[in-house]
Amino acid sequence: MKAAVRYYTKGGNTRKVAEAMAEAIGVEARSIDIPLEEAVDVLFLGNSVYAANMDKEVKEFVTANKDKIGKLVNVSTAALIEGTYGRMSKLCKELGIGIDEREFHCKGEFKFMHKGRPDEQDLADAKAFAKEIVVG
Ligand SMILES: Cc1cc2nc3c(=O)[nH]c(=O)nc-3n(C[C@H](O)[C@H](O)[C@H](O)COP(=O)(O)O)c2cc1C
Repeated sequence: MKAAVRYYTKGGNTRKVAEAMAEAIGVEARSIDIPLEEAVDVLFLGNSVYAANMDKEVKEFVTANKDKIGKLVNVSTAALIEGTYGRMSKLCKELGIGIDEREFHCKGEFKFMHKGRPDEQDLADAKAFAKEIVVG
């Protein structure tokens, strides 16, 4: 199974999770500034919410790469809400991309909240999640 990991980050939380996942499945985690070079069966896409919205760069990346994404796996570090699956699945539906029902979400540090998150346990959970998706 061909897999790739991309992330969008403002403060580094989502990058940490993406890098843990990428290490677990033997690929490199890259920013969404880098388009997919080839079609993949699974794309792990790290993103979060800022002022209640998914960033427009994330939407643009998914839209521009839609023909190369077999299935998207949503990865989120939102601090207040319990993931960004709803927003991402809506976008995938509009674009005709399949999205796995499983989402990885852990709280990310935000101001005085969730100090140190993602922490070691979050990163271990992220690795196990990615392996489960790719290896089963
Ligand atoms: C400007 C800004 C706005 C945010 N707005 C929200 C929000 O509306 N809901 C929420 O759950 N988290 C919100 N957060 C928290 C981030 O989603 C959270 O800290 C996340 O882990 C940031 O990921 P990053 O470090 O990869 O950018 C906001 C963070 C920032 C910096």
